[in-house]
Amino acid sequence: ELGARRRLLEERVRPFPDFPCPGVLFRDITPLLKDPIAFRTVVDLLEAHLKARYPQIDFIAGLDSRGFLFGPVLAQRLGIGCVLIRKKGKLPGPTESVSYALEYGQAELEIQSDAVEPGEKVVLIDDLLATGGTMCAACELMKKLKAEVLECAVVIELKSLKGAEKLKPFPVYSLLQYD
Ligand code: PRP
Ligand code: ADE
Ligand code: MG
Repeated sequence: ELGARRRLLEERVRPFPDFPCPGVLFRDITPLLKDPIAFRTVVDLLEAHLKARYPQIDFIAGLDSRGFLFGPVLAQRLGIGCVLIRKKGKLPGPTESVSYALEYGQAELEIQSDAVEPGEKVVLIDDLLATGGTMCAACELMKKLKAEVLECAVVIELKSLKGAEKLKPFPVYSLLQYD
């Protein structure tokens, strides 16, 4: 049953006040990854949602670095490829880049210019949506490549930071929500 499975996931997310800086309540997913049942449940739920909602997805795009924990395994479940959205300076060859602010800092994301073709349908995956700065930058990269973002999917959404509003009109899907 869905509620029970979500509760198991909730039990495997550890809150750490004032990490990595004062005022931030850090949601640590390491216990979730360490428990194979919980980890599989995350992938099961995301897979079921995407299969039910989107008849055709060309690629899963995983966001560096915690999005890489879920993106590739989900792409394998769906039988499709995975493309990488990485932090600056990690990808060889021609790239597009977008700088952004996140809940506790500033950074720049990149994608290889040939990662996806115009019109291809992509689902973006990350572990957590906070202010939406990171996911928004990823959407901008997809826009630069003229790909279609079907959805921004995350394990955890921090509702009070209003990331989903920042991402409009792109739809956001999350398994767990916190205020
Ligand atoms: C964290 C998290 C998300 C992002 C969310 O990544 O994994 O990607 O912050 O914050 P936002 O919605 O305010 O942008 P972080 O940049 O800390 O790095 P990591 O994934 O490499 O750990
Ligand atoms: N990334 C941005 N904000 C975060 C938070 N509060 N917990 C974990 N990861 C985050
Ligand atoms: Mg991240």
